[in-house]
Amino acid sequence: MPKQAESLIHVSNLCKSYGDNKILKDVSFDIESGDLVSLIGPSGCGKSTLLRCLNCLEVLDEGEITIDGVCLRAVEHEKNEDLFWKLAHDLRQNVGMVFQEFNLFPHKTLLENVSLAQVIVKKENPEKARDLAMMLLGKVGLKKFSGRYPWSLSGGQKQRAAIARALAMKPKVMLYDEPTSSLDPEMVEEVLQVMRDLDQEGMTQIIVTHEMRFAKDASDYIIYVENGEIVEISDEDEIFINPQDERTRRFLKRYM
Ligand SMILES: Nc1ncnc2c1ncn2[C@@H]1O[C@H](COP(=O)(O)OP(=O)(O)OP(=O)(O)O)[C@@H](O)[C@H]1O
Ligand SMILES: [Mg+2]
Repeated sequence: MPKQAESLIHVSNLCKSYGDNKILKDVSFDIESGDLVSLIGPSGCGKSTLLRCLNCLEVLDEGEITIDGVCLRAVEHEKNEDLFWKLAHDLRQNVGMVFQEFNLFPHKTLLENVSLAQVIVKKENPEKARDLAMMLLGKVGLKKFSGRYPWSLSGGQKQRAAIARALAMKPKVMLYDEPTSSLDPEMVEEVLQVMRDLDQEGMTQIIVTHEMRFAKDASDYIIYVENGEIVEISDEDEIFINPQDERTRRFLKRYM
C-alpha cells in the first residue's frame, strides 16, 4: 500500500453528514502519483460524496484532505473560513472532474468547450489555449470534431470531450464519477481506453465505476466502500480472487 510521505493524495479521518445522516465515516486513504484507483460499492454508500469532497464541491465536516501538498482541514472552516476557501480553491486547481452526464457547454463547439476555461479561469493566451485544446482533442480521438457542437456527437464522443476539457486545466488528479454509466455498451470501451492511455502517461486517477472488468484489469488497486466506510483497500487481483471482508465478498458476488 502507498506510503504516506510520498502520497499525492492523503485523506485522513474524513467525515461528512447531511443533516443527521452520517454519509462518510472516518475515511482515510493514500494514493500515490500515477495510480489508477477504482472506487466501488453499493448505491448510496457515499462514493459520489467522497469524490465531491475531494474536489471541494462539498465541505468536509471532520478530518483533512491533502492533494499535492495543499492541505484542507475541516477545522479551518470554523476557525478561518476565508483561509478554508482559499485552500479549497488552491486544492481544486489540481483536480479535474468528469461526471456521468458530460456537462459540456451545449452552445459551444468542442474546441471552445476545451479552450474557454483556460482563457477565462487561467488567463491563458487564446492561441495557446487553442493549441492545447487541439492537442487534447487529438489525444482523445476527436481532432476532426473540433468544430462540432455537443448535440451532434455520440455519448462516448461527448464523454471523451469532457475528459479533454478537464485535462485542459492541467490537473494532477482526475476524478471520474461513473463516467460510462449513461453510455450505450458499445461506447463504454472507447472512454475506458482514454483512461488507460492517461494511466500510461502517469496521470493519477480515481474512478467510481460499476465496470468491474475495467476495475479488475486497469486499476492499481480498488477501494471498496460500504455504508460510508472503507471496508477494504486491495490489490485488483486480490480483491476479486480473495476478498478479505465478508461485505466485499457479498458485493462482488453480484458481478461474478
Ligand atoms: N445533497 C445531499 N443532501 C442530502 N443527502 C444527500 C445529498 N447527496 C447525497 N445524499 C445522500 O448521501 C448518501 C450517499 O450518496 P452518494 O451519492 O454519495 O452515493 P453513491 O455511492 O454515489 O451512490 P450511487 O452508486 O447510487 O451513485 C445517499 O443516502 C444520498 O441520498
Ligand atoms: Mg454516485
